[in-house]
Amino acid sequence: MNLEKLFLEKIELNLVSKNIAVLISGGGTNLQAIIDNTKNDYINGKVKIVISNKENAYGLVRAKNAGIKGVVIKDDEKLISTLSENKIDLIVLAGYLKILPEKITKIYENKIINIHPSLIPAFCGRGYYGLKVHEAVIKKGVKYTGATTHFVNECADDGPIIMQKITEVGDETPEELQAKVLKIEHEILPKSVKYFCEDKLKVVNGKVVIGG
Ligand code: GRF
Repeated sequence: MNLEKLFLEKIELNLVSKNIAVLISGGGTNLQAIIDNTKNDYINGKVKIVISNKENAYGLVRAKNAGIKGVVIKDDEKLISTLSENKIDLIVLAGYLKILPEKITKIYENKIINIHPSLIPAFCGRGYYGLKVHEAVIKKGVKYTGATTHFVNECADDGPIIMQKITEVGDETPEELQAKVLKIEHEILPKSVKYFCEDKLKVVNGKVVIGG
């Protein structure tokens, strides 16, 4: 194969926009960050569907405002069929307070990204969600916290880590620390999704390598 053909193929590949499903349970500020960054073309992908396991999740309003289909799904089989019908390439868990069954994590191995508001493996796993994470961080007295994006496997907050960013812990309340960490989340989640959509994330021996 000559170099010119290779180059043209690469351009063609990069032009194929990925179909993204964002799964939420709540407010959806991370969802909003992804929507904004697909609309301004930072991410070479499209949020095709927003799926919530809660009827009253504000993220569903955000989806509607952005002209994106939003649905409430609680049943795993229905979730699988909906993802498949929408030809989803990437699932983003953006504040989705439900552990995905192994059946789904196997079908979408290294194609599901989660955002967690701490530096994994600290303050993560079952029971560490929402304000509880930041309360535990403050209680422990750690000097730094942050956010982590990672691929999802069948265990909570456990798959290969994609990106992390830190921030100092001062004398904030849990709510203030949560707001501080959310800002970081809104940086590293769109960035991780961008890299995925450009086929730059490879998992080698259980570790993510971000390539060119
Ligand atoms: C974020 O802190 C995220 O890390 C965690 O749940 C929260 C969701 O916030 N998994 P939002 O709904 O995106 O505002």
